[in-house]
Amino acid sequence: MSWLWTTEDMIAAMAGRPFGTLPEGITGISIDSRSIAPGEAFFAIKGDRVDGHDYASMAMANGAALLVVSEARLPAMGRLTVPMIVVEDVLAALGRLGLASRERSQARIIAVTGSVGKTTTKEMLRHVLSPSGKVHASVASFNNHWGVPLTLARMPGDTDYGVFEVGMNHPGEIRPLVAMIRPDVAVITTIAPAHLGNFKSIKEIAAAKAEIFEGLEPGGHVVLNRDNDQFNFLDRTAQSLGIQHIHSFGQHAKAEFRLAEFNGSDENSTLWLTIGGETLEVAIGAPGRHIAENALAALGVVRIVGADMEKAIEALATLKPEKGRGKRHRLSIGNGSFTLIDESYNANPASMRAAIALLAASEPTGRGRRIAVLGDMLEMGEYAQKVHSDLAVPLLAAGIEHVWLTGAEMAALKESLPESVHVEYRENTRELTDYVLDSVVPGDVFMVKSSLGIGFGKIVAALLDKFPPFSDTQREL
Ligand SMILES: Nc1ncnc2c1ncn2[C@@H]1O[C@H](COP(=O)(O)OP(=O)(O)OP(=O)(O)O)[C@@H](O)[C@H]1O
Ligand SMILES: [Mg+2]
Repeated sequence: MSWLWTTEDMIAAMAGRPFGTLPEGITGISIDSRSIAPGEAFFAIKGDRVDGHDYASMAMANGAALLVVSEARLPAMGRLTVPMIVVEDVLAALGRLGLASRERSQARIIAVTGSVGKTTTKEMLRHVLSPSGKVHASVASFNNHWGVPLTLARMPGDTDYGVFEVGMNHPGEIRPLVAMIRPDVAVITTIAPAHLGNFKSIKEIAAAKAEIFEGLEPGGHVVLNRDNDQFNFLDRTAQSLGIQHIHSFGQHAKAEFRLAEFNGSDENSTLWLTIGGETLEVAIGAPGRHIAENALAALGVVRIVGADMEKAIEALATLKPEKGRGKRHRLSIGNGSFTLIDESYNANPASMRAAIALLAASEPTGRGRRIAVLGDMLEMGEYAQKVHSDLAVPLLAAGIEHVWLTGAEMAALKESLPESVHVEYRENTRELTDYVLDSVVPGDVFMVKSSLGIGFGKIVAALLDKFPPFSDTQREL
């Protein structure tokens, strides 16, 4: 049996107190009593909404090998006679186990931050590094004070490449996370207005992202977006910290991993990457220039860590856009079909522009229309009105003639769009959903996007529920 951790090593790393008859080791780590797999350790951390200690019995019932619980909560948990490691603070114990994991690891460690594209780039790295070795990467967007230690503690001892997503919405958040990760390579995808309400300016966002440099291993590498306004600032900051290996990607003539050419269709794209005097053709199984930009960064990392470039490029061809991040659905309506671009995962001004470009690149058929279904971008603070009304610029430039809106902030966009655009505004997501369901016609292309908190996933779910998938064997009339 190969254990993720032997119980002995866990106890030593966490300075825990063993309780009951403990197993020899654990096969994994979970903080969710519903999805825990038999043989895994359950860490009873206090999450965003609930305290894991309240779910200890459920975790055991679902096959947990042992529980990690806090000394203070022990009395309240009743007469549990299950195997436990008792610690003072469960989250801190997870952090200590994470540090021990980093300590034992021989892997090349990559950390990815940025205002958008972290998960996309992280998943791309998982995909392109897999042919070269054993990859361990964060689940979903597990990028915060519990996501990072959890991902570290979960990293198997024989991992070749560890890929970590690192997020923040306040200054000072990245510093302790990257101190745990100690990356060999730190990537900043791009700097854009996200969580702007918590910052004074874009520069302040860039400074907060630059905290990632501080945890870099000696001799480590940073990878920066050469096309981003904040490049010079980030470059200087990295230099001032004595970092010697500063790489860049982008279209810029001086980018080390350079986008020589981009050719996109609605379903996929091809880019030509110039790297070390050589130009490589790269087919990507997903559309969008923003995806190509993330691919430049990912392939740059492949080069830096010495992984197999040819196999990495091969892998990109099979990459598919993910749920909520550009995933496409072709759905049946009557004898025809329409297209849904699911961008419902999240939104900020940068990803809105990327998604509008995706819509622009998609051709409606027959009497179909290009329709942007948009909801509020949250956490924009005093900039809220401006960033919403400014969306008129990319919408008009892309020639989008149908814009359907809801949300308090989107009222500003409604006001800034000219009469030539057909605008529908509904009071809430439910009313907008009803309108979408009633108004779709064959040939339409919808792009649906808002911040996560607005819940546009419901519009996508309602469309998928009402309209069955269209198969190519069906005849389009
Ligand atoms: N380089 C990019 N530029 C602009 N938009 C992008 C870029 N990469 C991804 N996006 C879009 O941004 C949205 C979020 O992407 P992704 O989940 O990769 O970002 P993230 O940084 O992980 O976000 P979060 O902070 O919510 O975890 C998606 O709509 C995606 O298509
Ligand atoms: Mg993410």
